[in-house]
Amino acid sequence: MPIEKNVSLKAYNTFGLPAQAETLVRVTSEADVRRVVDHPQLGRAPKFILGGGSNVVLTRDVTATVLKIEIKGLRVVEVRHNAVIIEAGAGETWHDTVAWTLEQGYPGLENLALIPGTVGAAPVQNIGAYGVELKDRFESLDAVDLVTGRTVTLSREMCHFGYRDSVFKQALAGKSVITRVRFRLPRPWLAELSYLELDRKRHDSGIGNPGPQQVFDWVCEIRRAKLPDPAVIGNVGSFFKNPVVTEEQCRDIIGRDPEIVHYPMPDGTVKLAAGWLIDACGWKGKSIGGAGVYEKQALVLVNRGSASGGEVVTLARAIQESVYGRFGIRLEPEPVVV
Ligand code: EPU
Repeated sequence: MPIEKNVSLKAYNTFGLPAQAETLVRVTSEADVRRVVDHPQLGRAPKFILGGGSNVVLTRDVTATVLKIEIKGLRVVEVRHNAVIIEAGAGETWHDTVAWTLEQGYPGLENLALIPGTVGAAPVQNIGAYGVELKDRFESLDAVDLVTGRTVTLSREMCHFGYRDSVFKQALAGKSVITRVRFRLPRPWLAELSYLELDRKRHDSGIGNPGPQQVFDWVCEIRRAKLPDPAVIGNVGSFFKNPVVTEEQCRDIIGRDPEIVHYPMPDGTVKLAAGWLIDACGWKGKSIGGAGVYEKQALVLVNRGSASGGEVVTLARAIQESVYGRFGIRLEPEPVVV
């Protein structure tokens, strides 16, 4: 397990921001995590856990020891009458894992196709898209405690999943390394097509009962049409969470802006489309330095080639201020700003 010094992180964060890791260790197994914990110097040093770098904004060099998670492995754990349990190493690419499950004939993750990042990062922010969240397909995960070196298994309840949130963004942030994740894919498979754009695909194609591969293809088409490919234009997907307001607040905003895109939630609150709010403030296509607001989706900030993390943060703050000024709503960033 080599200890690398002064490693550029530019290729390791999907925003493509320039930053260096003072110390970087590639973790390819649970045993590697324990070696780090037991190491005389590394053991005590603060740690920064890096997956696919798709949920991080690097504004400076990282002095904490970077653990780059590269644990591989995909397997079918169990085929039950009502579900299939799949296990994936935390370092597997998320999209490739989704594609693999479909190839094996075990659908259920297709709505989450093409989300950038790794398997280990997926539970951290409870990734979600097109009517499905990771927690809906989650069985359990293994994580190694960075103080004791012990492996623990966490159930769905123990992960405290919320909207783009989990215990790994809260109490366990930086304290444990997710090594393997298990998914529960319900049988029989049922297409999840409640999301407006998927329903539109069904309507336009005339395919009334699409199979999993068809849903996968539609999700990929929808994403490619409006989200930039990080391999081409640096980004971290949605930059802000969709804010949740009370019904009363929403009525007040609708009174002033009848067009606002909003979704009533089961608990009586209302989720507002942050992309719409930012768009309404005229940000689409605007830039500050090398950081810009994507032309086709205002919720996505992009690196136009030479952005620094500082420019991304400056742009994000300017957007937050103008949305607050016009709507009285504070937008909360989705990625972790370092
Ligand atoms: N909208 C605008 N202008 C814009 C962007 C959006 O008017 O510039 C409107 C759209 O017309 C639409 C509404 O806002 O009516 C919502 O937009 P969209 O369907 O693109 O979804 P979103 O709420 O912006 C969320 C997730 C995405 C996920 C999609 C699909 C969050 C923060 N984002 O985006 O997740 O792919 O729904 O489920 O919840 C991510 O987290 O990185 C991500 C990409």
